Amino acid sequence: MLPDQSDQSDSQQTSPDDLRGLEVFNTSTPPKNTSTPPKNTSTPPKNTSTPPKNTSTPPKNTSTLPNSLSSEIQFGSRPPPTRQRLLIMSDCSKLDKVKTFLQSYITTDPKERVKYYDVWAEKYEEDMSVAAYSAPTLAVNCLLSNFPGSREAALVLDVACGSGLVSKLMSELGFRHFVGVDGSKGMLEQAAKTGLYQDLRLALLGTQPLPAQADMFDVVIMVGALRIGFAPVSVVRELCHATKPGGLVCMTRIDYTESGYDYKADLERELQLMEEEGLWTRIDTEETDKYMLDVYTDNVKHGIYRAGRVYLYKKSLR
Ligand SMILES: C[S@@+](CC[C@H](N)C(=O)[O-])C[C@H]1O[C@@H](n2cnc3c(N)ncnc32)[C@H](O)[C@@H]1O
Repeated sequence: MLPDQSDQSDSQQTSPDDLRGLEVFNTSTPPKNTSTPPKNTSTPPKNTSTPPKNTSTPPKNTSTLPNSLSSEIQFGSRPPPTRQRLLIMSDCSKLDKVKTFLQSYITTDPKERVKYYDVWAEKYEEDMSVAAYSAPTLAVNCLLSNFPGSREAALVLDVACGSGLVSKLMSELGFRHFVGVDGSKGMLEQAAKTGLYQDLRLALLGTQPLPAQADMFDVVIMVGALRIGFAPVSVVRELCHATKPGGLVCMTRIDYTESGYDYKADLERELQLMEEEGLWTRIDTEETDKYMLDVYTDNVKHGIYRAGRVYLYKKSLR
């Protein structure tokens, strides 16, 4: 059950006006129109019940489809493909493209990483939807189950905001004030198009400091960027630093061991250490075995997912 929205938070709410004092790091893409309400997401899905006109012709070039799924579309003497089968085919072919794209960009260098996000930015959301990326939803659900304050008044720092998926979800649930940070200019340009952010800041975390004032944000959320070659573990201290006393920090991590480096172990050591130092308290963690399809390897052909975790911390009152 979701908590009620009455203001029982022991964190102080920040008015958007308080943001004026913030230093803005190289903000090359300010939001175009921050007053635009989020897009109407209530549009009903298109009618999928109408059969396609030409169902008798099998698609050409099915050889690039992932094996497990392409077996679905070896028609042979079976009846012609249904609408559903055609949808599966188009998803397979998209998934294959996403896999090929991501596998061509394996890097442990965050500078290189954000360059490929620049290239990917325009298609990022579509591709991640094909990859069944669930981290933003998991994180926002976990946050909401534990957020006691006024959503409308809360100031949210969306770190590694990408194209704005997390803030879009949060805005649909009543949050109104967002500041975004990302290392990719291309992704920030996409985020600006949402019209949700009152400020967008370009910073390569780990190399540059998190561009956020201390003790400022009611919620700091970082989804999809705690991983080798993305943001280093040290960034979690900066997330805590930017949060108001009593405010919440929500983070996700995908299960992935690359180049023999156990990011998960390092991250969990740091989170624990910060708790022992009295900086924050863990209030929730959620495991998922379906963080996203494993598009980074050929596992995706077998419909195998990567697992992951959501962490939620409350900053100490001092
Ligand atoms: C998987 S996307 C997640 C975006 C968004 N939070 C979401 O869930 O859709 C990872 C994002 O982290 C950003 N990123 C990766 N490493 C970074 C770093 N060191 N500093 C800043 N941003 C980084 C990328 O540019 C990209 O936008």
